[in-house]
Amino acid sequence: MQTQARRMSSTAITFPSSSSIAAVGTPATRTRVGKYELGNTLGEGSFAKVKYATNLDSGESVAIKIIDRDRILRHKMVEGIKREISTMKLIKHPNVLRIFEVLASKTKIYIVLEYANGGELFDKIARHGRLKEDEARGYFQQLINAVDYCHSRGVYHRDLKPENLLLDSFGILKVSDFGLSALPKQVREDGLLHTACGTPNYVAPEVLADKGYNGTSADVWSCGVILFVLMAGYLPFDEPNLTVLYRRIQKASFAFPSWFSSSSKKLIKRILDPNPVTRITIPEILKNDWFKKGYKPPHFQPDEDVTLDDVDAVFNDSENHVKRETCFTSKSPANEIVSKIEETAKPMGFNVQKRNYKIKLQGDQTGRKGRLSVATEVFEVAPSLHMVQLRKTGGDTLEFHKFYKNLNSGLKDIVWTTEQSNNEEPKVA
Ligand code: ADE
Repeated sequence: MQTQARRMSSTAITFPSSSSIAAVGTPATRTRVGKYELGNTLGEGSFAKVKYATNLDSGESVAIKIIDRDRILRHKMVEGIKREISTMKLIKHPNVLRIFEVLASKTKIYIVLEYANGGELFDKIARHGRLKEDEARGYFQQLINAVDYCHSRGVYHRDLKPENLLLDSFGILKVSDFGLSALPKQVREDGLLHTACGTPNYVAPEVLADKGYNGTSADVWSCGVILFVLMAGYLPFDEPNLTVLYRRIQKASFAFPSWFSSSSKKLIKRILDPNPVTRITIPEILKNDWFKKGYKPPHFQPDEDVTLDDVDAVFNDSENHVKRETCFTSKSPANEIVSKIEETAKPMGFNVQKRNYKIKLQGDQTGRKGRLSVATEVFEVAPSLHMVQLRKTGGDTLEFHKFYKNLNSGLKDIVWTTEQSNNEEPKVA
């Protein structure tokens, strides 16, 4: 079947926990990420991997998309990704794959997703061939509902294709990767395979022309191509030569198979209009007679609270490898610790204000996020043991990291242990 030849790698992506999480595993045990135990790989690319996982608290199945943290930092994508993941966390639609939480370790970001037990809709077509018109319509209705809902919240997919259409155990459609369009293409896609075999069969002409486009009508076009594939079992635009393929998409040059009903053909023609301005809109699709047949409105689950604390913890500052708070212990007397901090910080250019066993340090230079300021407090934890807590109260986290390193080497005579017991770096967030 032609669609099989065009198959791209699975694009579902997953990411582990709010504060610092370590993926722990030994050959004898399963790897754990926070409360999740990782299982088989569901999809793999060069930049992201999706793994099956079990929530050990509830026993529920989830899918975890694992992304290399450095890659996102390197692409300066933090703000865009944070915004879209936050929006996606708030999107709860029965046909949109849920993002449950976002976790992070030192090197990885983990997006915990709903697990779609029924696999990809694409596999169903690949195994059993094209769908009957009524069945195709049922999936198309769910797809349009999902797309319409995300659009109403300002989220566009921009890369809709059958690989992003998953099924749950009841056969309900779940659109995946909505909102991940802020990720660089290589991170979103399964990298190598995608660039090697991928062709833009589902992409709207105005997106291909790179003229600047409207996310709404571009997603509508892709839904039209998907509907065609569901009913035909092959692609409307399919050419081995990319230039010829582009030209055919630009002109919307395709032919219907004999078994398409005339009302379905009329609707698909209106969707695959190469001009995004005259292309049918979602409100018009919702009123179309072919679309409306047997329509069942989406069934929403009762609302439960969603927090964005995890997303904030993972993405809040681009350097978020570094915690804004750290501590060390010392066996020296408290007043000696305070004097030593003062003596070390002053030559580093810090203004020092002391009150009892609290010290405020303020840098004299304006850094990337203003002046670095640090609050320090000495606590007695045992008669001859003090804990010194350092908290960044202003400025840039990476500058705090550097400051802490320098302070630590200045204080090495009085430091007993640090959070990591290596007298070097603040603990990883
Ligand atoms: N493959 C990729 N993502 C998946 C998910 N969320 N559920 C099931 N299979 C998947």
